[in-house]
Amino acid sequence: HWYGLVGAPTDIGNFGCGAASGPAALRAGGFLDRMRHQGIVVRDMGDAEGPAEGTGIGEHGIRHVEATAAWCRAVRDGCGQVLADGGTPLMVGGDHSLALGSVAAASAHARKLGKPLHVFWFDAHPDFNTPDTSPSGNTHGMPMAAACGMGHPEMLDVGAFTPLLHPHDLTQFGIRDVDHGERAHLLRHGVRFHEMPEVRRAGLVSLVAEALERAERAGAHLHVSFDMDALDPEHAPGVGTPVPGGLTLDESVAALRLVGESGLTGSFDLVELAAVREAGGSRTVQSALELLQAFLRADRRLFVEPLAVRVA
Ligand code: ARG
Ligand code: MN
Ligand code: MN
Ligand code: MN
Repeated sequence: HWYGLVGAPTDIGNFGCGAASGPAALRAGGFLDRMRHQGIVVRDMGDAEGPAEGTGIGEHGIRHVEATAAWCRAVRDGCGQVLADGGTPLMVGGDHSLALGSVAAASAHARKLGKPLHVFWFDAHPDFNTPDTSPSGNTHGMPMAAACGMGHPEMLDVGAFTPLLHPHDLTQFGIRDVDHGERAHLLRHGVRFHEMPEVRRAGLVSLVAEALERAERAGAHLHVSFDMDALDPEHAPGVGTPVPGGLTLDESVAALRLVGESGLTGSFDLVELAAVREAGGSRTVQSALELLQAFLRADRRLFVEPLAVRVA
């Protein structure tokens, strides 16, 4: 078993937010060496490539949707290549619109294997806006609605088919900033979105454990998407859209460890790492490293396979 790092250095989904610096910041933070020292080999597949410039503002004020779709297609192809070669893609962004690309790859792969796709979405935001409900026009607020078949035709066109995901198979954790029309979409389509009061009441780990059970029972390909702004700004100040009252680093580490232990994860995103926004520090990169390490170290598939000896 192996993981393939696919960088996606763009902030096209929230232009100028700084998330384009994410992949370089994670590499400069020593991610690959740190993993190698733990016996975890992550292959660096390099960065996806897409348009440097925006493509303008369209109907409903939607921003740079053509460029967003181009980046998502590049991410889709990068992640799709890792999956085709038998690995687990680890997409590092970049803003969260890119998850439409990684989910498109995951969904096509799951379909080929005859598995349903389940998505775990750790985020302050549901990213379930459509162009007509989005207050900002930023496409990073839209990828999950698009994956579920609702949104701009350019975004629906990223996948080989639509919908890529059934809304009942999407579970969100850490939610605390939901737009009005977005909440209506979530409720109408039966998305499980665990807002912070519920996380505080029930505990992140037990909510994640419950969702893991569902994924396991369904025999799902699990896609995990972690937006750094899921964390409280204390642990992740370097993000484009910080929201107070978020997840602690400890509970997130515990939750990702559990997800790793399950061995169910077929693809993973870590996004909205806008380290450049953090004046003179690297708290956000350190948090990202801890999250990835907790997740990867818990994945026993990484350790078991090389030791498997067949006894005749
Ligand atoms: N809901 C807001 C919007 O649609 C913020 C979305 C933030 N998304 C993110 N991936 N950080 O603009
Ligand atoms: Mn997000
Ligand atoms: Mn977010
Ligand atoms: Mn439904």
